[in-house]
Amino acid sequence: MNVLSVDQFSKETLDKLFIKVSDFKQKYQTKEGRDHLFRLQFGKQMCSFFFEPSTRTRISFELAARRLGMGVVTVEDAKNSSTVKGETLEDTIKIVNLYNFDLVVMRHNETGSLARAAQVSKIPIISGGDGKGEHPTQALLDVFTIWERFGRLDNLNVTIGGDLANGRTVRSLANLLSIYDGNTINFVSSPQLKVGDDVKEKLKQDGTGFKETDNVDSVLGESDVIYWTRIQKERMENPEEIGAKYVIDQSKLKIIPEDAIIMHPLPRVDEITTDVDNDKRAYYFQQAENGLYLRMALIDSVLNGEI
Ligand code: NCD
Repeated sequence: MNVLSVDQFSKETLDKLFIKVSDFKQKYQTKEGRDHLFRLQFGKQMCSFFFEPSTRTRISFELAARRLGMGVVTVEDAKNSSTVKGETLEDTIKIVNLYNFDLVVMRHNETGSLARAAQVSKIPIISGGDGKGEHPTQALLDVFTIWERFGRLDNLNVTIGGDLANGRTVRSLANLLSIYDGNTINFVSSPQLKVGDDVKEKLKQDGTGFKETDNVDSVLGESDVIYWTRIQKERMENPEEIGAKYVIDQSKLKIIPEDAIIMHPLPRVDEITTDVDNDKRAYYFQQAENGLYLRMALIDSVLNGEI
């Protein structure tokens, strides 16, 4: 099956997936474990198309496939493919199908293009980010990291800050957290970058409590998870109109509870100062590392028909 949205995941599927991620993470640490993982999908082929810049998502997807024994064909900068000659996304995907790939991973700048690609594909497509829409695998690795740290995904107070209007990781994370009971989400942003109505509607439907504020200090002290995001200038019509900037720095660390964690999908620009990195609450590098194990487990589950 395709992985295009977090909406397709149930608690039961996530439980199974996260157990597999933990198992793969443990196996990955030893040579015998890595040899075992290498046999799981040996000989299968993944095609990786990134129509937008990417570091972690692409590297971890491609390494994940290779570590499962797969071959990977990368369209280096997908904008250099026949798309520049005017080929439609649909035709490109039809060709990938003809060549008998087993899996496609794709990131695209136009919201909705992943769904378009999936419509003409018989082989599974995993989204690596869909314009301003969703980034399901990022949210899966975020939630896995929270589960690993707290041992639960319910009754958590989660503060999400930064560019809530344009960040796709925000939508996917909030939607995924709303599957679980008793979570509260505090959205911190300037009035210009408030979270979308669709996200708030979904939270209301699922009975997940949330509030919106531009006063970061008022919510940090009660948070279990602080999830910070970059201003997505490339997605804005008027990048100069972003309003106040919210930065996690040493002064904020004084307010953040001792057992909270600070997360960020990365890339970080200046919204978390680098002197926070050595604090034990800074979790963004562990989070990025988990992306590899999560993507290995996800590819394996998709190819085995478990997802
Ligand atoms: C995010 C994305 O691409 O949406 N990056 C990522 O995949 N870790 C976040 C961002 O670009 O700010």
